[in-house]
Amino acid sequence: MDIRSLGYLRIGTTDLAAWRRYTLDLLGMVEGVGSTDTTLHVRVDDRIRRFSFVATDADRLLAAGFELPNARALAEAAEELEAHGFPVKHADDATLAERRVQGLIHVDDPAGNPLELYWGQAQDHTPLGTPYGNRFVTGDHLGLGHVVLPAPDMDSAVAFYEHLLGFQLRDRMKLPPAAVPTGEPGRDFYWMNFLSPNARHHSLGLYPGALPPGIVHFMVETDSLDAVGYCLDRMNAAGVPIASTLGRHSNDHMVSFYAQAPGGFQVEYGWDGLLVDPASWTTKEITADSLWGHQWNG
Ligand SMILES: [Fe+2]
Repeated sequence: MDIRSLGYLRIGTTDLAAWRRYTLDLLGMVEGVGSTDTTLHVRVDDRIRRFSFVATDADRLLAAGFELPNARALAEAAEELEAHGFPVKHADDATLAERRVQGLIHVDDPAGNPLELYWGQAQDHTPLGTPYGNRFVTGDHLGLGHVVLPAPDMDSAVAFYEHLLGFQLRDRMKLPPAAVPTGEPGRDFYWMNFLSPNARHHSLGLYPGALPPGIVHFMVETDSLDAVGYCLDRMNAAGVPIASTLGRHSNDHMVSFYAQAPGGFQVEYGWDGLLVDPASWTTKEITADSLWGHQWNG
């Protein structure tokens, strides 16, 4: 299946105003066209929107959007999913217009995470005037960053993304039972898995537990260490709880910190992520999640 990248995230929220402040004033993102009283679209690059926050009655992931190159690739993906027992729903015209894409199918992964596979997203050619001069590392080949989704039935989820969607399993890490409070008793450890369809080390993390918001964290990457530091200062000045101190991850080499976000999950803000050569990559086990730093609070 020719999936190229994580293209967008749609997130339901009980506090749209909080996400507005968080994305625009703290993360240094830009409001996208078409926002309304109940929906905030957010730009981080030349795409018309990479995030949409929708006022709902619960804080939860509404969809992770994955990008395909064209209509034929999407048609083939729909056929393949159906053939493997994953029912797809073709988007109606209103959904296509709302997403600003030209073709889209809805499908749930084996964990029930809602996915949208699409092609032909609109661009916004207005220069991206980020408020702090920060620039995000994205593009057709890298997508918006990464997202970590819950996958209590890990084996089915990995098989879905690796063998059906065509992602490459980059590495995995054992988590102790204490890190998976919703896990079944008696297990010695659980696997967490990191995958990507492109050169970004991981576009998707799969966490082996259940979490109500349906999202563990999402990561956006900036092009400088200073951009990360300035954002950390803004978070501290605003009194946002810092979930993890600055550190460098062992797998994607991202220098990042994690802040609590309005929806009861976290946002990772990073720099210097590893790009891999899929042709030469071999899957590995990491035995610590960071080379240094990343002290978790609470
Ligand atoms: Fe991450």
